[in-house]
Amino acid sequence: MFYKKFALMVATALTLVAGVSGAQLEPQLTVKEIMNAIITPTTGTIWGAYQLQTEAEWQEVENAALSVIAAANLLSAGGAGEGEVAVAEEADWQSYNQQMLDAARQVLVAVAAKDEEALFNAGNDALYPPCESCHQQYQQQ
Ligand code: HEC
Repeated sequence: MFYKKFALMVATALTLVAGVSGAQLEPQLTVKEIMNAIITPTTGTIWGAYQLQTEAEWQEVENAALSVIAAANLLSAGGAGEGEVAVAEEADWQSYNQQMLDAARQVLVAVAAKDEEALFNAGNDALYPPCESCHQQYQQQ
């Protein structure tokens, strides 16, 4: 009984320390969930953007790019699935993820300039390749 209480106290203290130092956030979503819930719909919006006219249409693409950045932020810590934190510590994982994040920033630049050609190029030349590279290396068939 005492030990149980003690263990609980230690766990609480550790949580507090982690909280105070702002250490590693604990992943809540698996990589698959991040792909399906955030990456797929947002990249669909970016790749599907065509003949944008209204402010709202551009805003939608901007929000999609911001969401890709948020997802990349999550993916840099890994996912909640088994082994998904360890794999995210690999240099290749970080590199593909960073390429995706940089691509989303290029999308933001294109949106700010309301430049549809730049948006198209960012989507095809910058945003798509890291998906392929990361999947080839890390997605189990
Ligand atoms: C840093 C690595 C990484 C990057 C970058 C990445 N993915 Fe993924 N993705 C994965 C991994 C790993 C899986 C396999 C997850 C699983 O099956 O558990 C996956 C799976 C998927 C799936 C399949 C989900 C399912 O239900 O099986 C889709 C769709 C997907 N990714 C889309 C994308 C798109 C689009 C991009 C680029 C914009 C992208 N991903 C970029 C790592 C990545």
